[in-house]
Amino acid sequence: MIETLTQLLITTTTVDNGTFWLPKAASTVAEDVDFMFELINWINYFFFAIIVISMVYFCIKYRRKSPNMVCEGPTHNTALELTWTIVPLILVGVIFTVGMRGYLDLREAPEGSYEVQVTGQKWSWTFAHPEYGATQVAELTVPVGKPVRLLMTSNDVLHSVWIPDFRVKMDVVPGRYTSLWFEATKVGDYQLKCTEYCGKDHSKMLATVHVIPADEFDATMTKLASEYEDMSVGQLPAYAINRLYNRCVSCHSLDGSTGTGPSFKGLWDRVKGGDVTFSSGEKLSSLLGDATLYGEPENYIRESLLDPQKHLVKGFLGAMPSFQGQLKEKQILAIIEMFKHLDELTDEQGNITVNPDGTPTE
Ligand code: CUA
Repeated sequence: MIETLTQLLITTTTVDNGTFWLPKAASTVAEDVDFMFELINWINYFFFAIIVISMVYFCIKYRRKSPNMVCEGPTHNTALELTWTIVPLILVGVIFTVGMRGYLDLREAPEGSYEVQVTGQKWSWTFAHPEYGATQVAELTVPVGKPVRLLMTSNDVLHSVWIPDFRVKMDVVPGRYTSLWFEATKVGDYQLKCTEYCGKDHSKMLATVHVIPADEFDATMTKLASEYEDMSVGQLPAYAINRLYNRCVSCHSLDGSTGTGPSFKGLWDRVKGGDVTFSSGEKLSSLLGDATLYGEPENYIRESLLDPQKHLVKGFLGAMPSFQGQLKEKQILAIIEMFKHLDELTDEQGNITVNPDGTPTE
């Protein structure tokens, strides 16, 4: 109890890991937001105290002392009424002015901001960097000390981007663009959350914002944009499980457990053997082989990525979006290779055991 009270009293002392009320502050706007928050908080403490103390005092002092007691209460007091009107008016005026300035600051990205296109989709975030032709999923790399503007839209339902440490938040709406901007002040990793309830796996719709030194940014993005292009087929599975599987993780497990979609564990064996039953009752085995729709089992996986509703696996609802236009041919090949080598990429519990470059994780 005493500890909690002490914590309450030191809320204004900003420490590196945040305060009792607020997470750590890591963007240029955070200081203003926190100031406003603390100001309103302290106004609340102040009025809470004087209201509760005078209420208790008056309850005792002016209580009804005998059953026959008749009171003549005051009818009005001009000085008191003016005070309790003018003081709060000034307070809300200050709060409005400071808040409005902060709001306008947050709405308008500075000229020359680095732009990232964000797409929300049940249940993952995709970040496209037009300047580098690179796309990241569930990860966003940005330079420190440079304003970044996120131009955002959704492919399905309402989502909302929230980066608590940067004090920014904005809805992501299908059929229109919204934006937010921030300038990170500290190198590090920060969590980005979806903060609009968007369905079953809303709570898993997370991403990490990597803030890196500005002089490393260019090289990092250039590498990200093209790393898979120079890879041999043998290197693709490790790339795919680290860079592309992020997009699948909320629905497809690696440990055999059933999610919104079938587990990836053993998927290649099931597909190769044609051992998949569709919701129409048809079996995949009848579509494999010479003179059939798919011919090679790889074609079925390819089509499942580009037109997932065409053949739904029995028992699943078909929540998967199309990846048409989002995956390059070599990335589709990388995913197929990932399925073939899943045993070498994960352990029994479904943990990923290789880094993007193929070295074992530690
Ligand atoms: Cu997307 Cu919640």
